[in-house]
Amino acid sequence: MSATPEQLWQRFQQHYTEFPTLGLALDLSRMNFPADFLPAMQPRLAQAFTAMAELERGAIANPDEKRMVGHYWLRNSALAPTPAIAKEIEDTLEAVEKFTAEVHAGATVRGAGGPFKRLLVVGIGGSALGPQFVAHALGKPADDKLIVHFFDNTDPDGMDKVLAAIGGDLDRTLVVVISKSGGTKETRNGLLEAKAAYTRAGLRFEAHAAAVTGVGSELDKYAEQNGWLRRFPMWDWVGGRTSELSAVGLLPAALQGLAIREMLAGAKACDEATRVPDFAKNPAAQLALMWFYAGGGRGTKDMVVLPYKDRLELFSKYLQQLIMESLGKELDLDGKVVNQGLAVYGNKGATDQHAYVQQLREGVLNFFVTFIEVLTDRASSSIEVEPRTTSGDFLTGFFLGTRAALHEKGRESVTLTVKDVSPYTIGLLIALFERAVGLYASLVNINAYHQPGVEAGKKAAGAVLALQAKLVAHLSANLGKSFTVTELAAAIGAPGQEETLFKVGTHLAANAGRGVQKTGGGSPAEAKFAAS
Ligand code: PA5
Repeated sequence: MSATPEQLWQRFQQHYTEFPTLGLALDLSRMNFPADFLPAMQPRLAQAFTAMAELERGAIANPDEKRMVGHYWLRNSALAPTPAIAKEIEDTLEAVEKFTAEVHAGATVRGAGGPFKRLLVVGIGGSALGPQFVAHALGKPADDKLIVHFFDNTDPDGMDKVLAAIGGDLDRTLVVVISKSGGTKETRNGLLEAKAAYTRAGLRFEAHAAAVTGVGSELDKYAEQNGWLRRFPMWDWVGGRTSELSAVGLLPAALQGLAIREMLAGAKACDEATRVPDFAKNPAAQLALMWFYAGGGRGTKDMVVLPYKDRLELFSKYLQQLIMESLGKELDLDGKVVNQGLAVYGNKGATDQHAYVQQLREGVLNFFVTFIEVLTDRASSSIEVEPRTTSGDFLTGFFLGTRAALHEKGRESVTLTVKDVSPYTIGLLIALFERAVGLYASLVNINAYHQPGVEAGKKAAGAVLALQAKLVAHLSANLGKSFTVTELAAAIGAPGQEETLFKVGTHLAANAGRGVQKTGGGSPAEAKFAAS
């Protein structure tokens, strides 16, 4: 039986918490956890707080990679476990600000074009999603110091599209290549494609390029050898998906003209609040426990993230990586197979009400929602679209209506309310979810800070490209002669790889300049490949 309005009002008062220092409120009233859930979780939560305190003190919280996990130090270097780390954090922040000031002052003018006008960020995963989210959330096209573009994939056409948008401004475009490991192929390809574009335009790429990467990495050495403008460090104690408040995120944001110290202040304030070992006072603990409740600690329900704000539309994409790459793990910390995770998807309200919200209300019940409500509609006042009603009132109306409509049908939701979309709030939101992920990982006993699945994908792609190289070598050594994939597999010593050879050969044949032809092909086994 559904709750009466009076019961809901009581539950709302009981489970709605304001965190005034953060400008944040969290409402758990539409999660139907029973009264004994919170007391029952207390011992596990206490352990999670202890593990988090150890992590912040510099424990090896990523045992598989034998690494410390230090993203909390980035916004409060006094917490760093050694003075040397604290100094590196501060020095890097100052270096980011100094370089940014030089760029903005036009001190790094290239060629005849004038000061830098655009920024091309090349990176992927944790080296792109945070910068993209922040650039989109806080950018103001009329005021931004640099217009930001991204290469975040190895899709040639995608890169062409970005280069076309940059157009004749290449000489006034600064390129920041970001890769913690410095060896990620997608990013390496983006760097080479960007460099080729500069060369085609008769420009020196090196005079336009800066890097954010681990000291001594392949990218670091390349940037040094080629005399790039500047190099900024990344450290092994910062994970890719928690690196937004290191140089990875701060450099692009500062160059765009965003207030990075305010982002750091928001994150620091949130860290302080989420360090409090008390569920009632800690918004990250509240989120982590709701995730546990919703999915029974097994991730059986997906989390749909619905911010009612266009500026936050990339937040769900950012969270998708932060949460799924951190929590989606085969083994727990004791080596037991657990196949943990928490699937995340979403976009923005009210837009999504005209898309998949139909299924959320009436279809398969395999999710809970995290609504994000932003109190400030816009900086200025609004017109009335109906008597005494603004567009922003409609947005709020649609949010509350959807929340109620879902609840009526037994579909649960958490609501996060923030006052605005400012650098402070963005820093706060990043820190809030980073902490919730860390606490939840402890609740379910997994390592949130490694990504063996990502590494496995990288290895598998390497094997495909090695096979392609053998295929091309064989076809080139037998010009004009056609082979089925069965013949090719036997010839190049790749038994069992017929399907991959078929896919790779078909791709080569579809692309100009590769010199591979495909003939026949009523079925994959009959298709023949040749080089000319
Ligand atoms: O979060 C992670 O660790 C990954 O998503 C990485 O950020 C991603 O693979 C890119 O790695 P890198 O920054 O080393 O190029």
